[in-house]
Amino acid sequence: MKIACIGGGPGGLYFSILFKKAYPEAQIDVFERNPPHETFGFGVVFSDASLSRIAQEDLSTYQEISAKFSYWDDIDIFVHGECIRSGGHGFCGLSRHTLLQILQNRASALGVHIEYQTEIKSFDHLLSQYDLVIACDGVHSAIRQQYADQFKPKIKMGKTRFTWMGTTKPFDAFTFYFKENEAGLWRVHAYRYEEGKSTFIIETSNEAWLKAGMDQKSEAESAAYFENLFAQELEGHRILTNKSIWRQFPLIKNENWWIPKMVLLGDAVHTAHFSIGSGTKLAVEDASVLLEAFKALNFQIHELDRVNEVLAYYQKIRKPQVESLQKSAETSQKWFEDTEKYFKLPADNFAFSLLTRSLRISHSNLKLRDQNYILKNNQNFAKQAFQSAGVPIPKKWQNQDIPPMFTPFKIRNLVIPNRVALSPMCQYQAKDGLLSDWHIVHYGSRAIGGNGLIFTEMTAVNAEGRITPGCAGIYTEAHQDAWARINRFIHEHSSAKTCLQLGHAGRKASTKKMWEGIDQPLAENESWPLVSASAIPYYPHSQVPKALDETDMAQIKADFVASAQRGINAGFDMLELHCAHGYLLASFLSPLTNLRTDLYGGSVENRLRFPLDVFNAIRALTDIPISVRLSATDWAENGLSTDDLLVIAKAFKEAGADLLNLSTGQTTATAKPEYGRLYQTPFAELVKLEVNLPTCTAGMISSYEDVNSVIMAKRADLCLVARAQLFDPYWVFHSAFEQEIDLALPPPYCAVQSPYLPKMEWSLRGMKK
Ligand SMILES: Cc1cc2nc3c(=O)[nH]c(=O)nc-3n(C[C@H](O)[C@H](O)[C@H](O)COP(=O)(O)OP(=O)(O)OC[C@H]3O[C@@H](n4cnc5c(N)ncnc54)[C@H](O)[C@@H]3O)c2cc1C
Ligand SMILES: Cc1cc2nc3c(=O)[nH]c(=O)nc-3n(C[C@H](O)[C@H](O)[C@H](O)COP(=O)(O)O)c2cc1C
Repeated sequence: MKIACIGGGPGGLYFSILFKKAYPEAQIDVFERNPPHETFGFGVVFSDASLSRIAQEDLSTYQEISAKFSYWDDIDIFVHGECIRSGGHGFCGLSRHTLLQILQNRASALGVHIEYQTEIKSFDHLLSQYDLVIACDGVHSAIRQQYADQFKPKIKMGKTRFTWMGTTKPFDAFTFYFKENEAGLWRVHAYRYEEGKSTFIIETSNEAWLKAGMDQKSEAESAAYFENLFAQELEGHRILTNKSIWRQFPLIKNENWWIPKMVLLGDAVHTAHFSIGSGTKLAVEDASVLLEAFKALNFQIHELDRVNEVLAYYQKIRKPQVESLQKSAETSQKWFEDTEKYFKLPADNFAFSLLTRSLRISHSNLKLRDQNYILKNNQNFAKQAFQSAGVPIPKKWQNQDIPPMFTPFKIRNLVIPNRVALSPMCQYQAKDGLLSDWHIVHYGSRAIGGNGLIFTEMTAVNAEGRITPGCAGIYTEAHQDAWARINRFIHEHSSAKTCLQLGHAGRKASTKKMWEGIDQPLAENESWPLVSASAIPYYPHSQVPKALDETDMAQIKADFVASAQRGINAGFDMLELHCAHGYLLASFLSPLTNLRTDLYGGSVENRLRFPLDVFNAIRALTDIPISVRLSATDWAENGLSTDDLLVIAKAFKEAGADLLNLSTGQTTATAKPEYGRLYQTPFAELVKLEVNLPTCTAGMISSYEDVNSVIMAKRADLCLVARAQLFDPYWVFHSAFEQEIDLALPPPYCAVQSPYLPKMEWSLRGMKK
């Protein structure tokens, strides 16, 4: 079998080593355009996990690497004049030059033929000369370009500018510097990779880069600029350069990773932003997985007609693994693109936000890595939170580690005892808008279960505003009394606060219950007339709504005000105006559902007019906190833009909103949401940082560690947990139990921890043996 590797980078060399070990009869030719000792850049990083994989696969390479690497455990973050250190990260740095030398020597020793200074310019003939071509020719892969119609690459350029420099300063931790000058904010990613040598990557926004004149500076001039800017940090050490040109990071993905007899590997097929330091690791892992594919299919060296089968198997296994890492890398890249926004945070929160940016490391992971770091952060966070809420730390918690989720949060004069809320969820168990016994059990048990705040389901302000015939309302005195009963129960038996979500379903009214067909129109004989911003049906087969005229608007506003008053009478601590999910008020905000040509359509200011009008009327009624739920994006082309969102958020803030609840989508039936863990949190974070108003977030939050991470990084102030609390009404209590926080149960249940009965050890599955 004859194999050609185009490119002698880490990917191609490591594959050659592994393949030659597994199939010594194979002939492997590596073509590398550079001489053996020439390479760009400085150091590369491996994690403990990548190293142990190399140790298993090729002990000799591992031993050579480990004799040369610099190992460190800590991350130092220098920001706002402070240094925040967190430990337990376990990484090693190695010179790229040394790594290549080790791999080159090992490959040659195993009988791999490496032809240096040989640039391959045409590839077709290789396919006839070789049984397999490994296209590992790096980020600018000419092979990928030549066969682009088959590989189908997608390349997205990053927004920041960066250059890969070095320094003689020997860092003793992976070090981040964040420093501002007249041009803007500079980020440095630095780590030692051998005695007296460190990588020093400098990154900044395009604006700062231009303002500093970097587009005009030579390599030496750039280096001099940074020696000056970081003079204090470098302590007399020099900046080094090695083809240190300024670049934008290209995110590379390919739909197809292989074509007959040829496969892309390493940077040629995918990239991951350098802030997660994994490009070399990924290339080396690609090589391992490609070899695994040969072994898994029990490939024999003479079975040349099975090569394509192996390549297909390789893509099937490897592509999803890489895509998952790329997703984290993209999130990390975005953090570095938006660093100016995070720079407003205090040093502790900034550092925590940086450490948890890609969602791969959470509050709990950090506690495992470095308990003291988290204990200190928890302590500071709790101290500030209790202080600003104006409540003392409970006596029983005074010597305890209090995770961020169990700190109070004050909105206006309302103190919410912790950071978890039951997210609004329609129950479809009302009749003519009137609650049933179901609701007392549903809301009551989640309040006893430990939530700080209980949001009601969307509660209609008039009968036509109900989503379904089973939806709750607050448009009669009887409705008010039913809600009052729920409030009495919750306030008497728990410390939870309550928030009434007021809404009108607009063009999404008069539909079936969720389990009978969500958003599907009722049969004609059961349905009622619809209204919306414009006369556009939700589905083509849905009823066409009437576009509201000014008289209708005045009536609906009066219904909102009357309902809000009933909510206050019923004892709610807080109100929320539902301006999300394509319902009536949201239908005004989105350009997809508002095609009006009057004062209520067109510009975002006009689209805001009616929802804001309703808000102002409610605000005039009461001093209790009011939240507004928004769909931050429509997940659809030509839908609400980020600029629109910020205008809307600022307008509600100025009108006296106390909290913004950032949800997304459900505006149109054809939207394409991007789901994933905490998928809506970036919107809460954006609004919180840009508008400077408290926010809450919901959406695929199902672990207490995510709640702790979100709250400590100040991504939002409250976490709303919906479906996880359908599964477990005591979700908050159980989270407290797992974190060894004593959350008071109501007296009838205190026997769980009773001192009068024999002590029992509990686990969440029941009594421990
Ligand atoms: C600023 C920056 C910082 C980085 N930091 C890290 C880090 O800390 N840790 C990390 O793991 N990774 C890091 N990387 C990424 C890392 O350098 C690459 O991901 C890794 O080298 C990919 O290996 P590869 O074998 O796929 O490609 P490469 O290492 O790029 O190798 C490709 C080789 O192919 C050769 N070649 C190309 N075309 C031809 C041709 N036609 N004929 C012959 N030869 C050819 C090239 O000369 C090159 O040697 C960083 C990258 C950048 C830009
Ligand atoms: C059954 C159900 C009913 C819902 N009803 C409402 C509602 O009345 N008002 C609202 O704003 N959101 C409603 N939502 C959305 C949730 O509040 C929440 O934002 C969403 O479920 C994402 O959170 P999760 O991933 O924790 O479930 C509902 C969600 C579910 C699952």
